[in-house]
Amino acid sequence: MDVTYSLLCALLFCSVTVYAQNCVPTFQNNEVDIELNNQNLTKIVTGCLTGNQLPTGNIVSINIKGQVIPSLNSGAISNIQQKFNINISHNEIDVIRKNSFRNLPKLVDLYLDYNNLTSIEPYAFENLPSVENIYLGNNKIHVIKRDTFVNLPNLLTIFINDNKLKTFDQSWFSSTPALEWLVLNGNQVTSIKNAAFEEIGSVTHVDFDYNNLRYIHPEAFSGLNRLEELYLAGNELTSFEHVNLSHSSALFRLGIEFNKFTYLLPRFFHAIRNTMKEKEIFIRGNPLQCACVDELVIWASNNDIKLYWKCDEKETYCIFPLSNESDCVKRSIDQFNSSLIGSHIFNCLEEL
Ligand SMILES: *[C@@H]1O[C@H](CO)[C@@H](O)[C@H](O)[C@H]1NC(C)=O
Ligand SMILES: *[C@@H]1O[C@H](CO)[C@@H](O)[C@H](O)[C@H]1NC(C)=O
Ligand SMILES: *[C@@H]1O[C@H](CO)[C@@H](O)[C@H](O)[C@H]1NC(C)=O
Ligand SMILES: *[C@@H]1O[C@H](CO)[C@@H](O)[C@H](O)[C@H]1NC(C)=O
Ligand SMILES: *[C@@H]1O[C@H](CO)[C@@H](O)[C@H](O)[C@H]1NC(C)=O
Ligand SMILES: *[C@@H]1O[C@H](CO)[C@@H](O)[C@H](O)[C@H]1NC(C)=O
Repeated sequence: MDVTYSLLCALLFCSVTVYAQNCVPTFQNNEVDIELNNQNLTKIVTGCLTGNQLPTGNIVSINIKGQVIPSLNSGAISNIQQKFNINISHNEIDVIRKNSFRNLPKLVDLYLDYNNLTSIEPYAFENLPSVENIYLGNNKIHVIKRDTFVNLPNLLTIFINDNKLKTFDQSWFSSTPALEWLVLNGNQVTSIKNAAFEEIGSVTHVDFDYNNLRYIHPEAFSGLNRLEELYLAGNELTSFEHVNLSHSSALFRLGIEFNKFTYLLPRFFHAIRNTMKEKEIFIRGNPLQCACVDELVIWASNNDIKLYWKCDEKETYCIFPLSNESDCVKRSIDQFNSSLIGSHIFNCLEEL
């Protein structure tokens, strides 16, 4: 009996100290707006924001805006049992430390966009059982380490758009079985490596628009059996024929516009065979050989594929090679007029 009692005490004492230690102060007289079903209130918070500081009713969202919060530290927002969203956009946050969001069993959406984030520590987003969407766009993130998004069973969408990432690595994720949308547009990623998404095979939408992609490994997309939409516009890609998309039978939309393709043929796109959706391929804004465009346009109309091959306001949409202009064949760059191929006449926007 005595033994049990002191053991219990020891355990309780232990958990109390752990919780106390787990608040590394984040806030310093910060205004926190709490939106409830029937009223809104503003609290001034110092240290950590925890459930016992909040009213017991239904919380809709917690919003912190327009302040300067240098870092989110361990326990910053913790122990809130209600279902709610958090919006901490526009606060100049520059680091998120491990365990900043702790014991928030019903948190759904987490907005951290438009801050000054350059790094996120491993396990920064861990054990958030209801989280569906994490917004990290429009920061300055240049590196993410392995095991940053861990044990998030309902995570659907991760937005890391408009940052400074130079590589993508699926090891950022661990136990995120519901992940569908990977939004990475507006970064500086230069290549996609072999089986880059194999361990996050639940993904249905991959967005690498406006990066610096020059190379895609032939089997980059292997394992993405559920892929539906693939966005690769605004990169430096020159070759697509080697990219094996045949793993992805649900693919119905492919965007490869505004790259540097001179040569594309219908057979490169045979993987786009989802019969349940309207199939769409975007190829405009590339210095394509006119013979290739002709072939693609005919193929698309015969196969019920919507092909976006021309900018609405532009007459120029293709280029004649210096010889044999009626053949759509793979050619080296010296078979084109260099001043034409290097110009911006293929952009949809008017030249300045
Ligand atoms: C609380 O704030 C939200 C968002 O600003 C607003 O839409 C809502 O009407 C407010 N509710 C009350 C009861 O004032
Ligand atoms: C989050 O808060 C910012 C203001 O800091 C606001 O502009 C933005 O619309 C909010 N986002 C959502 C989804 O409510
Ligand atoms: C956040 O970034 C903005 C814009 O780059 C800059 O003006 C501001 O000083 C930065 N804030 C902090 C706390 O570093
Ligand atoms: C492309 O992937 C499919 C499906 O995994 C595979 O059967 C096929 O051999 C691959 N094609 C090439 C050219 O490697
Ligand atoms: C043009 O086509 C002819 C006949 O097919 C071929 O012999 C010739 O090598 C081609 N020239 C170039 C520059 O590809
Ligand atoms: C390349 O294109 C430019 C602009 O249309 C033209 O002035 C020039 O004569 C062309 N050069 C050759 C080798 O065809």
